[in-house]
Amino acid sequence: MARKMLIAGNWKMNCLTADGTTLAKEIARQVKENKFDCEFLVCPPFTLLAMVKKCLRGAKVALGAQDVHFADKGAHTGDISPYMLADLGCKYVIIGHSERRTDHGESNELIEKKVVAAHNVGLTTVICIGETLEERENGRTIQVCQNEIFGSVPEDATAKNTVIAYEPIWAIGTGKTPTAADVEEVHAAVRKALAKKLGRSTAEKIRILYGGSVKPSNAKEFLALPDVDGALIGGASLKADDFIEIAKNAPKLK
Ligand code: 13P
Repeated sequence: MARKMLIAGNWKMNCLTADGTTLAKEIARQVKENKFDCEFLVCPPFTLLAMVKKCLRGAKVALGAQDVHFADKGAHTGDISPYMLADLGCKYVIIGHSERRTDHGESNELIEKKVVAAHNVGLTTVICIGETLEERENGRTIQVCQNEIFGSVPEDATAKNTVIAYEPIWAIGTGKTPTAADVEEVHAAVRKALAKKLGRSTAEKIRILYGGSVKPSNAKEFLALPDVDGALIGGASLKADDFIEIAKNAPKLK
């Protein structure tokens, strides 16, 4: 089965009502006006989900959140449940981003719990993995990424409910990127780990995105790689023109 490319924007902790509205409307306008072969996803902060949903009306851009709690509801002050995200019209949720693994001490076990909870309400999860600079320098990249796959991807994962994002931590927001050959090597190894865990046929269908300093000037090279099925974009997703320009570099199918 062919994999359709996914171009995803992670707005992180950015945008207030005014600039978030402008950004979402501009993305919607450009997606409507052009013909794209890829799918689009934007993940604004919780505070803007409802507003961005309105701005995206009529445009083929899915809405996603950046985190979720594993419980359906209850005494979890400050947290957001999978039901709440589904209720708002979210189709996706990013889980286990390195910034959450670091800032909030999220473990593979917790991430897997969140993923299962999200799947149970019909959300598609974008599970993030990736190595630190130290791990890369010690030649542990493949091992670290495969361990994160084994630890945080649940048995119920399918191509429909799961997307993987490989984001080398040292490439996030730094302007530095691995070489194309390095990215392909990791993606192929991640697919191998998925095959071991979920079976070959499921692994062949699951999309694996690359993230970390993706911009219009390097998108083509990464998106052309055989095992790269899209991009998870931080900084460049905050500029509609850059986000759309990256999407224009996405091949039709893998
Ligand atoms: P940058 O594109 O800003 O490097 O961020 C990548 C990222 O962390 C997306 O989740």
